[in-house]
Amino acid sequence: MMDTEDASGITGDLDHTEFLLDLKQGLARQRKSISPKYFYDAAGSRLFDQICQLPEYYPTRTELSILHHHAPQIAVQLGPHAEILEFGAGSMQKVRVLLDAMDRPARYVPIDISAAHLQGAALQLAKDYPHLQVEPLEADYTQDLVLPPDMPPEGRRVGFFPGSTLGNFEPLDALRFMHMCAKTLQGGALILGADLVKSPDRLHAAYNDAQGITADFNRNVLVRANRELGADFQLDQFAHSAFYNAPFQRIEMHLVSTCQQTVQVGGSSFVFAQGETLHTENSYKFTVDGLCQLAQRAGFTPGQTWTDPDQQFCLLWLDAPKSRSHL
Ligand code: AVI
Repeated sequence: MMDTEDASGITGDLDHTEFLLDLKQGLARQRKSISPKYFYDAAGSRLFDQICQLPEYYPTRTELSILHHHAPQIAVQLGPHAEILEFGAGSMQKVRVLLDAMDRPARYVPIDISAAHLQGAALQLAKDYPHLQVEPLEADYTQDLVLPPDMPPEGRRVGFFPGSTLGNFEPLDALRFMHMCAKTLQGGALILGADLVKSPDRLHAAYNDAQGITADFNRNVLVRANRELGADFQLDQFAHSAFYNAPFQRIEMHLVSTCQQTVQVGGSSFVFAQGETLHTENSYKFTVDGLCQLAQRAGFTPGQTWTDPDQQFCLLWLDAPKSRSHL
């Protein structure tokens, strides 16, 4: 098995093994599914960056506007010499708004699973902020993290989890992740960005853009399976589908088989009936109350909330517990 993007050997093969096992398991289920984490190879990360620029995809723009508007206040909460840990750092644009407003930020630890994306963006950020210690960490941030050694305890350790990525977790996984954050950030805080419940029309447009970039992003998981696992998905026989499931407060993304077909993955055959779907992503939408309850269950104490005038998106300040006994 050869990794075309990162020919570093062992890591690439291990990644492929996990992908292969997860995909085969997911295709064997009665309702076929695959984790959205497999969207994000280099091509998928680029497509996601394009999604963020789309006129229909309001979350990125809205969250950035909230950040710009309230950065001075957020910076006061962060205090001097704080260190920021960003979970799923991506292109590292949003954190710049915080860094620009902060009083002598000490260290920035961007954590991301996509190595190529992480290194490039971290290098650029380090150039732009020469006094900041930038220590990228290539890791799956949903697993226990081995962080770089602690800084001298001058400032606070604050996690940053923007973009409503929490919405891509299933509710129990979201709680588990928040609990892990509370442990990691003990004595510090978390700045959480989340997309709010709104009109289904607005949501539908955001996940069914006119240029078809979201459709390409969705299909990229098949492109990746073909390239990395030697699977034989016929891309033109899977249609993008995204809709709001109101009882679950989530957008669901699927790839719909347009005909009866058989797909080979890692020596096994999987039959798709016409109209059968591969469920690729859930994107849960939240209320501020729901988020505060979730945060409290994970051990955080909710602080300030910032939102935009249309209440599309929100940022929450969450104080992490002071010690393990509060978890
Ligand atoms: C990364 N995540 C928060 C995006 C979302 O809106 O759920 C991923 C995405 N899927 C389709 N468009 C964007």
